[in-house]
Amino acid sequence: MKIIQAADYEDLSLKAAQLLAAEILLRPEAILGLATGSTPIGLYEQLVLMHQKGLLDFSQIKTVNLDEYRGLDPEDDQSYAWFMNHHLFQHVNLNRANTHLPDGSNPDAEAECTRYDHLIKSLGGIHVQLLGLGNNGHIGFNEPDEVFPKGTHCVELEASTIEANARFFANPEDVPRQAYTMGIQTIMMAKRILMVVSGKGKADILDQVCYGPITPKVPASILQLHRHVCIVADEEALSTIHQHQRLNKS
Ligand code: F6R
Repeated sequence: MKIIQAADYEDLSLKAAQLLAAEILLRPEAILGLATGSTPIGLYEQLVLMHQKGLLDFSQIKTVNLDEYRGLDPEDDQSYAWFMNHHLFQHVNLNRANTHLPDGSNPDAEAECTRYDHLIKSLGGIHVQLLGLGNNGHIGFNEPDEVFPKGTHCVELEASTIEANARFFANPEDVPRQAYTMGIQTIMMAKRILMVVSGKGKADILDQVCYGPITPKVPASILQLHRHVCIVADEEALSTIHQHQRLNKS
């Protein structure tokens, strides 16, 4: 695991955007695995700026997102499809036919998960997967569990995840209770992984992810086994790691 230390959220967003931009420049037809949540928003802003300056071309890029709430239509402004349009897709020259998310409006969970796995396979896999980190160590919506789930599946969201995501909804009761998410195996099969982590609230879990035991109870801990993981984290998120003196301060 390579850990890149950023001073603050702005610095993290810039550094992570530069890393993703480098992937796009090296491979203009890359398959990007994308994430939602609040952490990557600054990174997406930076990518949009680079595109507007003529530095980044998305015309051949294909994207697959990690997850989507089950029961939300892509047009719903709380859906992850809406989030991606709003923060990235509509601002760059991505061919919309090349952008993919699980379809939250499909009530048939088995059919939707199978479709999504086939789609990722048919694209030839993911070149670089962007991840955020949940407060409970989740990646995508792979919640703490007894086993590492493999392919795309439907999950019951944990109370802590519902609580964390309630900030995006008018009422906490509106937060969907289920989601479709890529599985851990699919994430681990990505050639490269870029994880962004910000804030004091993530400090303890980030320490467990990087230096604790590999366990499905901390789903992101499996990233210790991936050959090409780069974590960009700000000082607050790195505070527990620094407290334990596991990493030299930059
Ligand atoms: C979102 C996703 C989630 C988030 C995680 C952190 O697509 O897969 O795993 O990355 O919940 O969310 P934030 O960045 O809002 O703290």
